[in-house]
Amino acid sequence: MYHHTNVFKNESKLDINYVPPRLPHRHFQLNLLNQFFRFVLENPGKMAQRVLITGNVGTGKTVLSQHFGLEMARKAKERGINLNYVHVNCRECKGSLFMILQRAILNFHPHFPKRGYSAEELLQTLIQILDEQNAYLILATDELEALIQIGGSDPLYKLTRIQEDRLKAPQRFSLICILREPKYLDSLDHSTRSTLQHNIIRLEEYSLSKLQDILKDRVDLAFKYGTVSTSTLHFIAELASSEGGDARYGIELLWRAGKYADALQLSEVSPECVRKAAADVYPVVRKDIIFSLSLHEKLFLLGITRYFKHSEAAYLSMGEAEGAYAVVCEEYDEKKRGHTQLWKYVKKLSALGIIRTELSSVGQRGKTTCISLPGVPASDLEQELTKILSTEKRRSNPHVN
Ligand SMILES: Nc1ncnc2c1ncn2[C@@H]1O[C@H](COP(=O)(O)OP(=O)(O)O)[C@@H](O)[C@H]1O
Ligand SMILES: [Mg+2]
Repeated sequence: MYHHTNVFKNESKLDINYVPPRLPHRHFQLNLLNQFFRFVLENPGKMAQRVLITGNVGTGKTVLSQHFGLEMARKAKERGINLNYVHVNCRECKGSLFMILQRAILNFHPHFPKRGYSAEELLQTLIQILDEQNAYLILATDELEALIQIGGSDPLYKLTRIQEDRLKAPQRFSLICILREPKYLDSLDHSTRSTLQHNIIRLEEYSLSKLQDILKDRVDLAFKYGTVSTSTLHFIAELASSEGGDARYGIELLWRAGKYADALQLSEVSPECVRKAAADVYPVVRKDIIFSLSLHEKLFLLGITRYFKHSEAAYLSMGEAEGAYAVVCEEYDEKKRGHTQLWKYVKKLSALGIIRTELSSVGQRGKTTCISLPGVPASDLEQELTKILSTEKRRSNPHVN
């Protein structure tokens, strides 16, 4: 007889946005966050807090902040305090302060008009709403790189200074900044930087055994009993550990391996399923990130991948990147963007971790930027981009920038 097997009990527990009830190995950092925000429960208008969370990809920055936010809002509610935790991803907001503030306001007024305001006005509006509703807000700005890359110091300055000219009024607006590398703060003005560096929570990469604990929890939540053996779990944890302690990679592997097991009608997730999964999942560059790039950012990146595909070199210069991009533009029948615009692409792609840039001195002419492609084979990235671009072209939207 033919049985349809399914190794999953609840696949959604492996979703990237799922916030688990426990965070193994982040107790200390969670406690620290709670300490920083203790005043919210004791005397909410007393102060405005700013906290910085840093750590590599997959160290749990996002989930730590969200877990904290959910718990904090719940505890505040029990005490009759109108505390709101709003989590926005700056990259999804295209690094725009306007969009970030809009998301925050929509939390209070779901029908707030989408146009007709400047970022400054939105900031004022937000404070006004908080006053009117006697509400407090903890705004988590995730992937803050994007905001800094696009807007420099200015937007963050505004966010951290929002309370300054109302010192007598209750403080209502706190900020959690989430950033991969603290070095992005170097580009900020001194006072904004020191404000943020004051309360910093650093997340270290997970060790093999820590990854195992995290993944074990997920297996119990998402898989039927007995479908993922200890040795399979260990195998996945090892792969994630060798990718720099990236829990996200581990969870994605787990999910995909389960998918393969189902597709092959296996009653258990075998190591071969894991190997197949590993061949599909790139630890550093994720498809949704590539997808979110603008048309010309994709074309520019495609130029870079083509270059590396046909070259043994590990680095290319900005000039070479521009040349490769020009060829791609011709192929796709697109008008080239100018030099300044391309610099913005380089900054953004490097902020997203897709490319890496380094300054190197070349002789008398000073410094030049060297671009490299970490993590992903150029040919795979090229294939992915070509695929996405061809569907995009078919939909052919003349307004993409
Ligand atoms: N300590 C932990 N316990 C449980 N799940 C975790 C833990 N740390 C990370 N994760 C999970 O790993 C994945 C990556 O975490 P995430 O917060 O997105 O990392 P980051 O934002 O630092 O890139 C998410 O699915 C998250 O739920
Ligand atoms: Mg994150």
